[in-house]
Amino acid sequence: MTASTPATKKLFIKTYGCQMNVYDSQRMAEAMGAEGYVLTEDQSDADMVLLNTCHIREKAAEKLYSDLGRLKPLKAARPDLKIGVAGCVAQAEGAEIIRRMPLVDLVVGPQTYHRLPAMARGEIAAIQTDFPQEDKFEHLPARTSLNPATRRAPTAFLTVQEGCDKFCAFCVVPYTRGAEVSRPAPRILSEARDLVSRGVREITLLGQNVNAWHGAAPASDPAGGEWGFGRLIRALAQIEGLARIRYTTSHPNDMGDDLIAAHGDVAQLMPYLHLPVQSGSDRILKAMNRKHTADHYLRLIDRIRAARPDIVLTSDFIVGFPGETDQDHADTLRLIEQVGFGMAYSFKYSPRPGTPAYDRPEVEPAVADARLQELQALLTRQQKAVQQDMVGRTVGVLFEKAGREPGQMIGKSDYLHAVFVDTTDVQIGDLRQVRIKNSAANSLHGELLP
Ligand code: 5AD
Ligand code: SF4
Repeated sequence: MTASTPATKKLFIKTYGCQMNVYDSQRMAEAMGAEGYVLTEDQSDADMVLLNTCHIREKAAEKLYSDLGRLKPLKAARPDLKIGVAGCVAQAEGAEIIRRMPLVDLVVGPQTYHRLPAMARGEIAAIQTDFPQEDKFEHLPARTSLNPATRRAPTAFLTVQEGCDKFCAFCVVPYTRGAEVSRPAPRILSEARDLVSRGVREITLLGQNVNAWHGAAPASDPAGGEWGFGRLIRALAQIEGLARIRYTTSHPNDMGDDLIAAHGDVAQLMPYLHLPVQSGSDRILKAMNRKHTADHYLRLIDRIRAARPDIVLTSDFIVGFPGETDQDHADTLRLIEQVGFGMAYSFKYSPRPGTPAYDRPEVEPAVADARLQELQALLTRQQKAVQQDMVGRTVGVLFEKAGREPGQMIGKSDYLHAVFVDTTDVQIGDLRQVRIKNSAANSLHGELLP
């Protein structure tokens, strides 16, 4: 080490919640990397611990506070250890976090984390939770500026859109992540090209309302005008070496015609769509401020399946939303029966301070629990059926890692199922045809085709 090389410091990041947070954690690691920090897997060895938090349900914030409590002995033993809280709890609670947990040094929101290096150097205030005019991505180290020798995993996330203007009555996202903002197409395309040049073969485009993405056509498009999300996907599909494109999370009201058509005619766009519906009751959908009916959702599914008949659909459901009756619950079960989901996340309603539904009378907890169980049992049966349906079929599998058993590799199918294959013949990053032989609880088992 030469005298001018800064000493390496170690950064430990724990990520809670959604894939957007996973992406933000990577970008924060890159920003701190420019300050001489390298990532460590070992919290007790770190010079800085960053908790990138989620605020979507009550339990998420509770988990943060108990994790902070567990850091007390470490901080007592090493007072120079810096502890930072990032993400949506940081945004929502701000200074309250330090008041409740004085061991926290830094609080940074999802739109201000480009300031983390200056915060860590003590050049600016230790709490940064405004919604700045400037675009954080413009102030983060460009991914192209990082060491080009850094090979990456074969799959990567890429945030294209952030924030939400939908204001569902139960949801904190419009308040913690702010208004809908789309990143400009040229920036997205250059970040994608850079990822592919480092070995990435599959990109998952991220946004709280990713299919609401829109932006000015780049100068390279002679047609000019405005691009929608479908057009962006078509442009990404032109990148040589990018084998797979996915996106999440979508809103039913933003499924444009061109996006639906892209599911039929863009080969790289994978046959998988996460499209949250939350409830199958029109009364509850209205109370949730979803601005669509159950029938609107079902007709949309018909159109998507017409474009791509083999698509696997997944969704999110909330049970026990204030005012939900047995009939409303039955309507949700009926919608699930009608669609047939490959997988779904289901949650018991959790009242969030500051949201319109917060003060509404709650459903009896025992009733909500029973409904959740019934709904999950149905969804599990559907998941099994969709997996079983894969048996005997040949699917593309992108291999991501070695299995726990020697001679076993694990990848994801086109339909996002985890697939185990006994082979010593493939490398991480290979995309191969695999015949599915059987289905286990949460994965498939297959054999390579020659
Ligand atoms: N209570 C329960 N579930 C919620 N979600 C969002 N807010 C709440 C809440 N207050 C769920 C929705 C959303 C997913 C990310 O989290 O189903 O789609
Ligand atoms: Fe939350 Fe609704 Fe926006 Fe999704 S669409 S982030 S559930 S407010």
